[in-house]
Amino acid sequence: MNRIVGTGMAVPPCVVDNHLLSRCMNTSDAWIVQRTGIRERRVSPDTYRMLQRLAEAPDKAAFMKSVFADGLDGKIDSSMTVSDLALEASERALENAGLTARDVDCLVVSSTVPDFAYPHPGCVLAGRLALTSTPAICLQQGCAGFLYGLAIADQMMRGGMYRQVLVVGAELLSTMFDYTDAGRDMAVLFADGAGAAVVRAEPGPRGVLSSHLHTDGTTYESLAGELWGTSTYPPVSKRKFDEDRMRPRMNGRQVFVQAVRRFKEVVGECLAANGFGIGDVNRFIFHQANMRIIEAVGEGLRIPSDRLYNNVERYGNTAAASVPIALHEARALGLVKDGDLVLLAAFGTGFSWGATLIRW
Ligand code: UT7
Repeated sequence: MNRIVGTGMAVPPCVVDNHLLSRCMNTSDAWIVQRTGIRERRVSPDTYRMLQRLAEAPDKAAFMKSVFADGLDGKIDSSMTVSDLALEASERALENAGLTARDVDCLVVSSTVPDFAYPHPGCVLAGRLALTSTPAICLQQGCAGFLYGLAIADQMMRGGMYRQVLVVGAELLSTMFDYTDAGRDMAVLFADGAGAAVVRAEPGPRGVLSSHLHTDGTTYESLAGELWGTSTYPPVSKRKFDEDRMRPRMNGRQVFVQAVRRFKEVVGECLAANGFGIGDVNRFIFHQANMRIIEAVGEGLRIPSDRLYNNVERYGNTAAASVPIALHEARALGLVKDGDLVLLAAFGTGFSWGATLIRW
C-alpha cells in the first residue's frame, strides 16, 4: 500500500481579516462570516501592500485599475511566487518524512495560476529542489488538484513505477482578484498557501485504499479565468485588459449547488467501494471552499461535526493547497492517528471533484 509518511504546509505571513476587505469593497465581516465562515486569510506580501493602499484610496476603482495597468509603486515584479510556497511546503513535508528531495522518485504538483505561463510550477519546484532528472508531473486541476495528484501518485506506485512520490498543491491566487465591489464575490473567498505530502510504497494494510475522480466538463465556464489563455486572440491584449477579461469569474450559486451535490455523491461512492459507512470514518478532511458548503455536505450525509477538520476560518479557500494544509494541521494536532480511516474530498473548477479513502 502507499502511505503518506510526511506532510508540510506553507502560508504567507500576511494576514488579511474581513475588516481590511471591508475598507476596500462594499462588504462586511458579518456578510463574509455568515456566507463563507472565513474570518481571515493569508496573502502574498504584494497583495497585502496593495490592500493597505486600496483601503486608503478615495477612488477604489481607479486605484485598482492603476494597479492592474502599472503595478504597485511602479513595479510589476512579484515579491512572492507560487513556487516559493510550494518549495517551503515541500521542504517541510520531506523533513517530516525524514527524507531529502533526492530520495523522491517523482513530483506531482497541482497549481492553478503558475509563476510563468510555462513551464509549470512543478518544474520550477524541481529546479529549486536542485533536482535535475526527477520527473515533475504538472497538473492544473483547481481545488481538486491535490486529490488528482495523490490518485496519480498512488496508481503509478501501485504499478511499480515509483516508490516515493512528493505530491504538492500550491496556490498564489490572491494576486489575480479585483478587490473592489466588482470582484467582491471571489476576492473574499480565495487566498494563498501550499501543502505537500510524501507518499511511500510500503508493505502492509496502511495507506490509500482507493481514489475516485470525476469531471463534468460541460460546466467549465462556471468558474474560469481567461488570463493569458487562447480563448482570445492574441492571448494577452490591451482590449482584453480594458474589457476586464483578464480576471477570474465565477457563478457562485452554481458552484455552491454543484459542490454540495458532488461532494455527497463522491463520498458515498468512495465509502461504498470499500464497504464502509459514514460511521466508520474517523476524520473527514474536505476542501475548504466555504463553511456553508462543508456544513451542507456534513448535514446531508449525517457526518458528526467533530469528525470534520476545518480551517477555512483562518485560511479561506486555498484551492489545491487546502486539503494538504488541512491534513497537515489535523496530523499536527493529533487528530489523525495510526489506524484511523481518513476520507479526503474536494470539488472545484472544471468542475472536477474526487475523494480518497486512507487507512492511516
Ligand atoms: O472551491 C470552489 C470555489 N468556489 C466556491 O466555493 C464558491 C461557492 N459559492 C459561494 O460560496 C457563494 O455563492 C458566495 C459566497 C460566492 C456568494 O454567496 P451567496 O449566498 O450565494 O450570495 P449570492 O451570490 O446569491 O449573492 C447575494 C448578494 C448579491 O447581491 P444582490 O444581487 O442580492 O444585490 C451579491 O452581489 O450578495 C452580494 N455579494 C456580496 N455582498 C457583500 C456577493 N459577494 C459579496 C460580498 N460582500 N463579498
